[in-house]
Parts: sequence; C-alpha cells; structure tokens
Amino acid sequence: MRIVIRIGGSVVASPINTELMSKYADIIKAVKQQGHEVAVVVGGGALAREFIGIAKNLGLDMAAQDEIAISCSRLFAQLFLKKLGEAGCNKVAVTLGEASQCLSEGKVVVMGGLKPGITTDAVAALVAEHVGADLLVKGTNQNGVYDKDPKKYADAVKLDHLSLLDLTKILELNVHQAGMHQIIDPVAVEVLKRKRLKFVVVNGFEPNNILAAINGENVGTLIE
Ligand code: UTP
Repeated sequence: MRIVIRIGGSVVASPINTELMSKYADIIKAVKQQGHEVAVVVGGGALAREFIGIAKNLGLDMAAQDEIAISCSRLFAQLFLKKLGEAGCNKVAVTLGEASQCLSEGKVVVMGGLKPGITTDAVAALVAEHVGADLLVKGTNQNGVYDKDPKKYADAVKLDHLSLLDLTKILELNVHQAGMHQIIDPVAVEVLKRKRLKFVVVNGFEPNNILAAINGENVGTLIE
C-alpha cells in the first residue's frame, strides 16, 4: 500500500517528545519493511505557534506568519528524516513533485508544511492525492473523532466509523458552536471528497495505533 502518515505537532512537539519521535521513526521503518510505501507529514506544534506569535508581534501579515510556521514544521521533518537514516529521502520534500520523486526512489518521504493558508492536515491529504495513496492515518491528541468537542463536552461520544458526509456535518456543527476544535482541516476534507481515500484518525500518543490502523484493526475512527 501507499500510506501517508500525518503526525500531529500536538503529539510529538508540544512539548517536544524525543522518546515518542524515536518510536515513530521505528514504526515508520517497520511499515516500510512490511513492503509499504510511506510518506510522513509532521506539524510544527507549540514551536510553530510560538513563532507565529513572534511574527504577529513584529506586525507581519498572515502569509508571513504561516511561512514561519512552515519552517518550524520542516525542522521537525528534518529531525525525523535524520533519524530515519538510509530509509528516508536525502532532504525534506517541499513540493508535491519532490514527494512523489522521493517515493519513486523507494525512500520514505518526510514533509512539514507546504504553502501558506492551510494546515499539515491538508498537506497530508494533498500528498495522498498526488501520489495516489490508499490510506491516510492521522495520529492526533484525541482517541479519534467525537460527535462534539470532547474537551468542552463531557458527554461527547467517540465515533468508530463515519462517512465523509457525517464528518462535514460535525465540522459545520463545530463552526456553529464557535468551537475551534478542528478534527481535520476543511481543505483536507475537500481533497478526501475528490479522491475517495480511506482515512483513519488515531491517538498519536500510542504510535502502535498507526500500525494497527495499517493492519486494518478497529482503532480510532475510520472515515470513508
Ligand atoms: P498544523 O496546525 O498543521 O500543525 O500547522 P500541528 O502542530 O501538527 O497541529 P495539530 O497537532 O494538528 O494541532 C501549524 C501551522 O503552520 C501553518 C499554519 O499556520 C498552521 O496552523 N501551515 C502549516 C501553513 O501555513 N501551511 C502548511 O502547509 C502547513
């Protein structure tokens, strides 16, 4: 399979957790050894947010703030790449073309952000679309997708399975309730709608969940 693994900055980088990063590197190598082709997209976490704040204080516009955040995410991508050693590409991919080129060389692609105005969720979906991936797995700081924001509502229920239509409805509901909880960025949802792709959201603090999702086990939330 061609698999895109999206690792939340909120998971490995807020605060920076090198033990978890090392576990991810091992998992990624294991997935590759199973014969899969892998692209990894990492976010910028708290560091990106801190630098966005600095850029804002300097009076820089949104696009500039995003560019700074993208650089932060690429730093984490570079750390992963170094940790992957021979298994990874020789540099962090900064375009979709570079990502597919790297995959075709039999190496693991590692990316951070791509362009201003989106999040790494969208990057992961765009990469998945571009390389024709079979599966997108997101390791996040929740156990999966809930019917409402679990941080705000004690009665929020985790969903095991939902359609893209259901996901869209939940996202709309969150907007109406002015909740900033983003299960997945709307740009990413649009890409998923264009390209029917299996998408699994799992708790990223347990990297084995990524393997379980790839092996088709019932873990987190499956969206398709
Ligand atoms: P993310 O919000 O995707 O990072 O990107 P994250 O830390 O993994 O987030 P969690 O774990 O899902 O909470 C951080 C910021 O970087 C900019 C945006 O400002 C985004 O909010 N960014 C990222 C871009 O502008 N373009 C990109 O392609 C990626």
